[in-house]
Amino acid sequence: MEILGVVATAVWAMLPAYVPNNAAVLAGGGKPIDGGQTLGGERILGDGKTRRGTVVGTAAGLGLALVLSALAPTVSALLGHQLPTFPVVAGLGLAFGAMLGDIGASFLKRRSGRERGAAFSGLDQLDFVVGALTCAVVLAPTWTLTTFTGPVLVVVLVATPLLHVVTNVVAYGLGLKDEPW
Ligand code: CTP
Ligand code: MG
Repeated sequence: MEILGVVATAVWAMLPAYVPNNAAVLAGGGKPIDGGQTLGGERILGDGKTRRGTVVGTAAGLGLALVLSALAPTVSALLGHQLPTFPVVAGLGLAFGAMLGDIGASFLKRRSGRERGAAFSGLDQLDFVVGALTCAVVLAPTWTLTTFTGPVLVVVLVATPLLHVVTNVVAYGLGLKDEPW
């Protein structure tokens, strides 16, 4: 596969995992998942992880996966490169997994004494990738293993932190997020 094709596949296949956390920022507020409970004197997750944000984020990622599936034949023909479609289980795995990865990161942040909104370099940029790919491989193993080939995976791991930094700086600049990470 030529390099541009690999990059196109990597970005396309990860879009349902990139969108959920940004949708959650727009939808946030309401009841925290942890119900305000603490563990060892710190919140289990904190007020930044809400039920509404998680549900809306997951729905947004899954919805995008369905839209991309419908667009795949047309966009593939335009690019001259076959882009993947998303079975529902794959879209759900990527979207919900991205949210779970972010929730897992909040759990680790609270355990390491970081306040809500504190940065945790490395984890902030890759938590949702690890969550998305793990959930996708559990829910849709064949699709995940054939879509995320070695070269595609390398591009995902290199490009995602860059995309994450850019989108968060933009969201911060637009006043949608309290911190630029
Ligand atoms: N959000 C949400 N539910 C989620 C994830 C995010 O409601 N599962 C919303 C919250 O309003 C949150 C905002 O999106 O404040 C930004 O998300 P994020 O940066 O992940 O949360 P933080 O507030 O920084 O909290 P934490 O330190 O726990 O990551
Ligand atoms: Mg944050």
